[in-house]
Amino acid sequence: MNLLEVDGVHVVHKIRGRGLLGHQHVYALTDAHLVVNPGETIGVVGESGCGKSTLAKVIVGLQRPTAGTVRFRGEPLDGGSGREVGMVFQDPSTALNRRLAVAKIIRDPLDVHKVGTPAERDDRVRELMSLVGLPTSVADAVPGQLSGGQRQRVAIARALALRPALLVADEPTSALDVSVRAQILNLLLDLREQLELAMVFVSHDIQTVSKMSDRIVTMYLGRIVEEAPVGAEARHPYTRALFSATPSLLHPVEPIVLTGPVPSATNPPSGCPFRTRCPKATAECAAELPPLAAAEGGHTYRCIHPEIPTEVSA
Ligand SMILES: Nc1ncnc2c1ncn2[C@@H]1O[C@H](COP(=O)(O)OP(=O)(O)OP(=O)(O)O)[C@@H](O)[C@H]1O
Ligand code: SF4
Ligand SMILES: [Mg+2]
Repeated sequence: MNLLEVDGVHVVHKIRGRGLLGHQHVYALTDAHLVVNPGETIGVVGESGCGKSTLAKVIVGLQRPTAGTVRFRGEPLDGGSGREVGMVFQDPSTALNRRLAVAKIIRDPLDVHKVGTPAERDDRVRELMSLVGLPTSVADAVPGQLSGGQRQRVAIARALALRPALLVADEPTSALDVSVRAQILNLLLDLREQLELAMVFVSHDIQTVSKMSDRIVTMYLGRIVEEAPVGAEARHPYTRALFSATPSLLHPVEPIVLTGPVPSATNPPSGCPFRTRCPKATAECAAELPPLAAAEGGHTYRCIHPEIPTEVSA
């Protein structure tokens, strides 16, 4: 059975409009479908505002879908199954209660869910600290006394306290100094291996996502526009544009420059959401949402003029 299934999920925020306009709607997530299997890592990429954090929050149960369902091991995600999904946020300095000591922060989920005896909780906190590479000497420190990297280790320990099967990491290194980013990524890779975790890994950086993930989900204006196994050549022009912005030696791509602003999520374009910036757009692209097309290996995309890889002749 799959671990997590996101099925037709929409998230629409109502915001107050300007001037004479009444309410406006922000289409943060539109008709998202996603399956996460045990032990698998899904990478989520896309520009700012495309709905990555909304999807992450839906998966951990922090954002209630406006429509659609999220199931964990086949059951609707609720308070019970929520324990099996842990989350690490982008900025550890705002995600942690700054007045609490490290040991208390990590212990909090154990207290809330009344896991074991108080002595067993103390043991578990020590175990978690060692798991994420925090010295026992910081147990009584408050977050402000730690480095950014140490704070993110605290956040990871807390996310793992209830032994989740799935860890959702939303830009877990983007608030950190470049020098500690690799350490935190390596820690997540080690933990994934050791604890046989499934992961949903959100990042702007498509190269990091490629290194961490089994499959890559590309989002644009609230929609999943492509889902591809790592190593498969992207077929959607937007995914190719993201890849071409940080070229790799293995898969060289002609640079595709994205021009113009991302359209507003309150008023997404008709048809293909990418058509206002797509170098391959034709009049047809405005007519309707491109149907979901499939390639081998569970690779799916929504584009009517996809890039089809050509066979390299010897
Ligand atoms: N509570 C809210 N009320 C209104 N609009 C919201 C709310 N939360 C998110 N949005 C909007 O929903 C859209 C998706 O936001 P989201 O935070 O999921 O994007 P993101 O891909 O995580 O962006 P970033 O890369 O900047 O973190 C954006 O247009 C955002 O402004
Ligand atoms: S459907 Fe058209 S506009 Fe959309 S990505 Fe494909 S070519 Fe571009
Ligand atoms: Mg975000």
